[in-house]
Amino acid sequence: MKETNNLDKKNILIFGATGLIGKVLVKEFLSFGSSVIAVDIDSKALKNQKNIYENLKYHSLEADITNLDSITNIFDYTDNNIGIIDAAINLTYPKNNKYGEQFWDVSFDSFSDNVSNHLGGYFLIMQQCAKYSLDNKIPFSLVNFASIYGVIAPKFDIYKKTNMTLPVEYAAIKAAIIHLSSYVSALTKGSEFRVNCISPGGILDGQEEEFLKNYKAHSRKKGMLNPQDLIGTVAFLCSDSSKYICGQNIIIDDGFTL
Ligand SMILES: NC(=O)c1ccc[n+]([C@@H]2O[C@H](COP(=O)([O-])OP(=O)(O)OC[C@H]3O[C@@H](n4cnc5c(N)ncnc54)[C@H](O)[C@@H]3O)[C@@H](O)[C@H]2O)c1
Repeated sequence: MKETNNLDKKNILIFGATGLIGKVLVKEFLSFGSSVIAVDIDSKALKNQKNIYENLKYHSLEADITNLDSITNIFDYTDNNIGIIDAAINLTYPKNNKYGEQFWDVSFDSFSDNVSNHLGGYFLIMQQCAKYSLDNKIPFSLVNFASIYGVIAPKFDIYKKTNMTLPVEYAAIKAAIIHLSSYVSALTKGSEFRVNCISPGGILDGQEEEFLKNYKAHSRKKGMLNPQDLIGTVAFLCSDSSKYICGQNIIIDDGFTL
């Protein structure tokens, strides 16, 4: 198990570090002994997180994944202050203020804006992480967060009697992230850069009871998951144990998609 334990020697970028899943991953990777560089657009949340972890191997950087300079500044900072980066996890969730509308109400502009920022941002992170690995000739593992809704059509019955829906942009964005991850894996063949996706099912976050009940009826046992249920797979993909896994999409959903 030496290879799975090498996380204590790794420097890991976590994009979207203060979000629902990101904050749990920050805590867990610090407990594995990794150096964590927490990146987020939310400076206030980063400041609060920094106060919690100030004596650990924690660094925080404010950045916007939709801005090239913002991303290259991260690598300048890590080159000067931390050293080689071994892995990155992208958990960002850019969305505009119209995001979440019903399909029939979504405008062309809003659809394009959400696709541009979310998919475009994931594209930039993939491009810049691959460039970093190739330029420096170093192994690098990127883990993209996609979704089961990048793989299957929504089960719209679970939203009945709720105000919720599965946004149409989300389905397009997440399917494209899964596909681009295999595109970039093929493009970088022969290098030590690899990128994989994790596609979680729904994560518990105070959703309506009716929805939780409907969702669970499609699952094997638990239904919606906790962020903690994703940690083992993320850790595996960041570790050397997965060094020959690339361009894959791993679904973690308690059987919801079956
Ligand atoms: N929560 C779920 O049920 C669920 C299920 C499947 C997949 N996912 C995916 O997992 C990832 C994390 O989900 P979450 O629920 O933790 O999301 P979240 O909204 O709680 O967190 C996302 C984080 O991204 C940051 N962010 C947004 N735009 C940014 C930008 N332009 N640059 C830098 N940071 C930015 C936000 O400030 C926030 O901290 C997302 O990609 C999401 O699509 C979530």
